[in-house]
Formats: sequence, structure tokens, C-alpha cells
Amino acid sequence: MYSKIIGTGSYLPEKILTNHDLERMVDTSDEWIRARTGIIQRHIAAEGQMASDLALEASRKAIDAAGIQAQEIDLIVLATTTPDMIFPSTACILQHKLGISGGPAFDVQAVCSGFIYALATADMFVSSGKCRNALVVGTEVYSRILDWTDRSTCVLFGDGAGAVVLTQSNQPGILSSHLHANGSYNNVLAAPGNICGGKIQGSPFITMEGNTVFKFAVKVLEEAVFEAITANHLQASDIDWLIPHQANIRIIKSTANKVGIPMEKVVATVDQHGNTSAASVPLALDIAARDGRIKTDHYVLLEGVGGGFTWGSVLLRW
Ligand code: UT7
Repeated sequence: MYSKIIGTGSYLPEKILTNHDLERMVDTSDEWIRARTGIIQRHIAAEGQMASDLALEASRKAIDAAGIQAQEIDLIVLATTTPDMIFPSTACILQHKLGISGGPAFDVQAVCSGFIYALATADMFVSSGKCRNALVVGTEVYSRILDWTDRSTCVLFGDGAGAVVLTQSNQPGILSSHLHANGSYNNVLAAPGNICGGKIQGSPFITMEGNTVFKFAVKVLEEAVFEAITANHLQASDIDWLIPHQANIRIIKSTANKVGIPMEKVVATVDQHGNTSAASVPLALDIAARDGRIKTDHYVLLEGVGGGFTWGSVLLRW
């Protein structure tokens, strides 16, 4: 038994913040942001619009595309770094907003690798027969944890959500997943704060050593490609679509170059929404699935890297 994606959906909030808008907020320029990151614009959630609201929009589209009813979902795995509240989980809040109940619903926290972790986890429930239809979501409102006076981080991120429906199938499906973490890098990319006694302890904003993250990302994204294709006895040339975490076009191009996959076979949407962390891979996947690039039988390799550090891949046959 395999698990197979039968529907995808995504959602970007209405408000767009362009590089030119940012020029009026911090000492930066459209040229710098485009040249260093490839980002042109990002979307910002409206006041009061929570991660679960973005997730709901993306999930409805994925469920519609799958041609099933929300009631048929018997598992929700939701990846987010920006949950609605400390608890309950955003997955439980989403479950309620979808008007369903009963099946397990839980959050996964692996920062920008979150969707890869969530999809790998849901695959184990579905392919083992424990659940029939899983909703797997990546959703983020990073605008809430950015220091809008810090040009080194605020230009990079945006808000958004992506979702897929995973169902049991005797045809592949998800072929493999590989997950990794190295917690010794926990200080390199972090929002190093918490709440204690009603007060914020530490910093609630993103801090990052950009260069260290950049080098680490290229290294492990390259390794993740070779790990996935080797485990499946494939060559890089067999991969029809590489969908890496959408953080920076230079990271994406360096990875593609190192593994020998031409950019024509790489889905890159970072220019339109910036780094949306756990939402970035399902957002890019939905865009390429809906515009017809991804076709039946294609080999699609999803990969992520993020704070922790965490990283990993999911290889699937469409
Ligand atoms: O999901 C994972 C999350 N994080 C990432 O993916 C980030 C990975 N890292 C990166 O994408 C890149 O390291 C950045 C885009 C963050 C930075 O690019 P870089 O080529 O590594 O630049 P840099 O940090 O070496 O900075 C170069 C210069 C510095 O000025 P000086 O010291 O050379 O005078 C920075 O102060 O650019 C300056 N700078 C900016 N200038 C204009 C930093 N941010 C900005 C900015 N606008 N927004």
C-alpha cells in the first residue's frame, strides 16, 4: 500500500508588500533584494487573520481538487512555526473550522522543513492503513515574528499556506522520505523567546546568521537529492520536477547546479511570495500541479531545510 497525493491547494493573503514598499520602511533597495534573494514581493496576513485561517483556505482548495468531502479526512498533520496560540494545536483549530472531528489532528514543528516532516509523518499513517485520507498542511504568518526594523531578516519572509490530500493507493505515490536534524545549530536561525509568567522571555523575533544558513542549506539540499535518488535507484536526470524550499533563488540555483538538474526542471516561486517557511514547498507544488507542469507518472522530489537545523526530502510519483 502506498499513499498518494490526490489534491493540492494554496492560499496567499490579499495584501502584497513589494520591495519598493520595503524601501520606505528600512535601508534597503529593490535591486539588493532581487539580486541577493530573487524575491520581488511577499504577502502579509490581515490583522486578526491567523495561521489556521490561511490553512483553511488552502485546505478547502486541496479537498475540492481531491474530489472528496471534508468529512472523509481522518487525519490532519499541520506544520507551522507561527501557531494561532500556545495551545490547542493549529491542526485542532483547523479541524474545527473545517467542520469535522474524530480523527487525530496535530502540529509538527520543524520550521522551514515542516511540510516535509508533516508529509513524511502522514505517509506513515496512510501507507500503513491506519488512516485513509490525510490532510497535510504548511501554514505561516511570519509577518508576526519579524522585526520590521531589521533589514537583514524582514525582507526575506512572507505569509501563506499550502495543503495536500493524501490517500491510500495501490499505485505509487510516495516512494521515500528522509528526515534529518542537527540541533547543534539551534542558535543560528531562531526566534529565541518564550512566554513565562505572562511576559516575553528572550526575543520573539527571528534572528539569523544569513551566511551560515545559506551554506548549510546548499550543502544539505544537495545531499538530500542524492540520498533520495540513491535510495530509489534513480539518476538525477530521472527527476522530472525538483521542488526545493523556497527561501532564496541563489540557494535554489546552487542546489540545482550541484546536483545537475537544469533550472527548467526546478519549480521556483520564491519571487512571488518570499520565504513562507513551512508553506513554501506545498505552495510551489500547488502552483506547478495546477498550471499543468506536473503530469501523471512524473517523479517529483520535494525537499526542505530550516531552523533546528532540520532538513529532508520526499520523493513521489505523481
Ligand atoms: O529558510 C531558511 C531561512 N533563511 C534563509 O534562507 C537565509 C539564507 N541566507 C541568505 O539568503 C543570505 O545570506 C541573505 C539574503 C540573508 C544575505 O545575502 P548575503 O549575500 O549572504 O549578504 P550578506 O549577509 O553577506 O550581506 C552583504 C551586505 C552587508 O553589508 P556590508 O557588511 O557588506 O556592508 C549587509 O549589511 O548586505 C547588507 N544587507 C543589506 N543591504 C540592503 C543585509 N541585508 C540588506 C538589505 N538591504 N535588506
